This record gives sequence, C-alpha cells and structure tokens, in this order.
Amino acid sequence: MAIRNLRYEGDEILKKKSREVPKEDILSDKIQVLIDDMIETMHKYNGVGLAAVQVGILKRVIVIDLYDDKGPIVLINPVIIKTKGEQEVEEGCLSFPNQFAKVVRPAEVVAEYTDREGKRMRVKAKELLAQAIAHEVDHLNGELFIDKILPGTLEYIEPEEN
Ligand code: NI
Repeated sequence: MAIRNLRYEGDEILKKKSREVPKEDILSDKIQVLIDDMIETMHKYNGVGLAAVQVGILKRVIVIDLYDDKGPIVLINPVIIKTKGEQEVEEGCLSFPNQFAKVVRPAEVVAEYTDREGKRMRVKAKELLAQAIAHEVDHLNGELFIDKILPGTLEYIEPEEN
C-alpha cells in the first residue's frame, strides 16, 4: 500500500466527471491497489471520505470511514437512488485543507454501489454517512462542497501543532 498525492483546490481535475469502472476491472490489481491506497491516504489525513479523483484518478470509486466498528466502506459506481429530508451540517474536504463550512445535505440517502468483491449492494444511510455519501458522489460528478456552502459560514481552521 502507498500514500497517494492529494489533488487540491484549484486543480482542474477536481471539476471533471469520473468514469464508471467496468465490472470486469473491479477485481484487477490496478483497482484493488487503488482502493487500498485510497483507504491508506484517507486515514493518513484523518478524512471521513475520499474519491478517486482526489488522488488524480477519474474513476467512480469512493472510500468512506466513519471510524466506527464497521471499518472502511468501498463504493464503486455508486448511484444515489433516493434522498429524504435535509440536514445542515459542518463540512470539510481533504482537497480543501483547513477549510470548513456549513452545507445542506440530505438527511437520508439510499445508494446502490458495487463493493470491492464485485457484488452489487444497497445501503440506507442517515446522518454522517448520508452526508459523506452525498459529498463523495458529488466529487465523482466534478462538484465541490465549496460551491454549495451556506453564505458566510466558511472558516479557516489551522491544525494544532504537535
Ligand atoms: Ni471532498
């Protein structure tokens, strides 16, 4: 496994739409290594989620880890098929270090995706998981949280030195 270089604010790739991963590619070393590297990179920077485009790969792969007992979740070719309600939440993004703002996300989402074994799955998510899925699926469509923040809520928070 390896830490991949993150793509940051201003990098044009972040505005591009990612492509579906063909089913026959999911078990390939290339995709499996990408997934492992994305998880390692997300953990290194203490992220809750990461989309492949954020490491420069325009493929519809996202990883999410809420640091609970479920461990990291891998969603390939995810599609949000239903949303319900709204939640106003504080949000950040590994491509926008130290920037946080409020956004409105669905309170619940139902998403279909393929897992890293190639099995099509369905997840019903709420709260932070719903927020993370919505944020990461936006990345796959070239959409960034910074373009949908509630006016006047952007804050710059420097990490503590240690
Ligand atoms: Ni992000």
